[in-house]
Amino acid sequence: MPEPVIVAYGRSPIGRAFRGSLTGWRPDDLAALVVERVLDRLPALDRDSIDDLICGCGLPGGEQGFNLGRIVSILTRLNVPGTTVSRYCASSLQSTRMAAHAIRAGEGDVFLSVGVESTTRHLNGTSDLPAYRNPRLEPANPEGYPDIYVQMGDTAEIVAEREQVSREEMDRFGLRSQERAVAAQDSGFFDREIVPVRLQDGRVMTADDGPRRDTSLEKLAALEPAFRDGGKVTAGNSCPLNDGAAVVVVMSDTRARELGIPPLARIVATGLSALEPERMGLGPIVASRQALARAGMTMGDVDLLEINEAFAAQVIPSARGLGIDPFDDRLNPHGGSIALGHPFGMTGARILCTLLNGLETGGEQVGLETMCVAGGMGMAMILERLT
Ligand SMILES: CC(C)(COP(=O)(O)OP(=O)(O)OC[C@H]1O[C@@H](n2cnc3c(N)ncnc32)[C@H](O)[C@@H]1OP(=O)(O)O)[C@@H](O)C(=O)NCCC(=O)NCCS
Repeated sequence: MPEPVIVAYGRSPIGRAFRGSLTGWRPDDLAALVVERVLDRLPALDRDSIDDLICGCGLPGGEQGFNLGRIVSILTRLNVPGTTVSRYCASSLQSTRMAAHAIRAGEGDVFLSVGVESTTRHLNGTSDLPAYRNPRLEPANPEGYPDIYVQMGDTAEIVAEREQVSREEMDRFGLRSQERAVAAQDSGFFDREIVPVRLQDGRVMTADDGPRRDTSLEKLAALEPAFRDGGKVTAGNSCPLNDGAAVVVVMSDTRARELGIPPLARIVATGLSALEPERMGLGPIVASRQALARAGMTMGDVDLLEINEAFAAQVIPSARGLGIDPFDDRLNPHGGSIALGHPFGMTGARILCTLLNGLETGGEQVGLETMCVAGGMGMAMILERLT
């Protein structure tokens, strides 16, 4: 059976939505740019031999509509099919997983897994308009359905309450994310994964907008709750709203060998969980356990762990549920979405870029990426570095 390996990756810097660097970029153009730059790193690959372009996008409507995957294929002048998948925040972890599955099934050798979201451009339309929600699923519905439309900030408050996560601990985690992201920026770590993007004013964007150098525990403690009166979730311990795109090239190990392309990492196993929508923040626990069991591993085998930082309120109990101290050096060592930003559809692939970069930089072997997902899900993927 062919094994799926990652042979190239790259991402745009992440812009702050509505007032950041990438507001002038359409999501389809941005994704196409990153695809082109990442393919430039694979001169031995015949572009016509790409089997499919699978594009993860959280809200694939408006400028992200029209089957974004195929639009990106056309914009890049690739003669390949294209599809668009949404699993909200894990959309481009899903697209990478689908590529791995297709390769294991023997139905293709080369796939582009693309992740993109422009939250700014949601202003021009999205796939999720409140007017079209099913009234049968509204909160406290008589049929006893869970609240599938629960807002993400509310899920964070609910998890913080039930898992007894304190405001002080959440703020400390928020600060940790900022400090680590700033340190990673200063050391040049992110330069190895970022594809520079030319902006409309002629400047070239090479770094994420997000990390805050001037923050402190005192400043974080002074922020008002963002979602509920008397709540604990603030702008400082949540991910912000963002724009960005990332690409991972997934190939069969057999094709990589034929082309003489050194595989960077093997996709070992994945996991997927469902839980009550209001507890979605804890999705990483069961998904990661499932992936570990499929890989025949335990957390002790994992050198680097990336839990997507939707909210400190959910990363802290998710880490503990996996038997890891949330402040352990193995977890999100280069910061996470709280500092860097979380363009929903991009983040699954963005974290894979950061995880691979981290494994290569640290000379480590096994990495685990895991994410919580709106609607009550969790996803995980285990990578083993090969070069
Ligand atoms: C939390 C949220 C409502 C905050 O929105 P916002 O008020 O526009 O947030 P901002 O990031 O602009 O921060 C507002 C202000 O708070 C202060 N602030 C935010 N983070 C700070 C930090 N770490 N330290 C100090 N001050 C901070 C700043 O004064 C900031 O203003 P500035 O950006 O001009 O400096 C929004 O980011 C959000 O909805 N996040 C969650 C997104 C989500 O649900 N994603 C899916 C997850 S599953």
